[in-house]
Amino acid sequence: MKLLTYSTAVDAAEKAFDIIKDGIKNGSIRTLGLATGGTPLKFYQKFRESGLDVSQVSTVNLDEYVGLSAEDENSYHYYMNSELFSHMNFKESFLPNGMAEDLEAECLHYESVLQKHPVDVQILGIGENGHIGFNEPGTSFDSLTHVVELTESTREANRRFFEKEEDVPTHAVSMGIQSIMAAKKIILLAFGGNKAKAVKQMMEGNVDESCPASILQKHSDVVILADTDAASLLQAISK
Ligand code: F6R
Repeated sequence: MKLLTYSTAVDAAEKAFDIIKDGIKNGSIRTLGLATGGTPLKFYQKFRESGLDVSQVSTVNLDEYVGLSAEDENSYHYYMNSELFSHMNFKESFLPNGMAEDLEAECLHYESVLQKHPVDVQILGIGENGHIGFNEPGTSFDSLTHVVELTESTREANRRFFEKEEDVPTHAVSMGIQSIMAAKKIILLAFGGNKAKAVKQMMEGNVDESCPASILQKHSDVVILADTDAASLLQAISK
């Protein structure tokens, strides 16, 4: 795992965008894996301001809430459309369908999308509990796209985006850990002191299902772009 630390999240997001831009320009990124949440917002801002031609690039997203339609402002479809897709000319974009009547069939279908569009670079955030995608602690490292029951801590962390607590969905469809690990390259962004414990466990802890992100130690090409707060508990940094 390679760690690069920056004094601000904006600087880290710029670095992430530079890597992506180079890959798109030289043709090595044909499929880009994307995340939602607060972390990639600056990255998406750089992206949409760039005017980059992405007509040869497909995207796949990590996850979507169950029960929220693309028109719902809190859905990840809506988020991706407003932050990125409506500003860019991507070839095609895929997210899991959280409205599917048969969610198990949707998970299988999404895995077939991933087979057809192998991810060249996957952008990830990290949850305070070490989750990646919506793979909560205890999720099998062998998991493929699946329906997830969100933990109270994850629902609480996402509460800020919803009007009422009861509006926060209880379930999501998420790429599994094995599906995420299939990406050729992974760029994980981590910003803020509330991520410091998870970053430390991911990088310096045991590879264990209690910290889903720790599996990234086993991937051959992972870059962590962190701000100084998120990196503050790492041994090499804090000395
Ligand atoms: C989002 C996702 C999640 C977030 C994580 C961090 O698609 O899969 O794993 O990356 O929950 O969320 P933020 O960025 O809001 O702190």
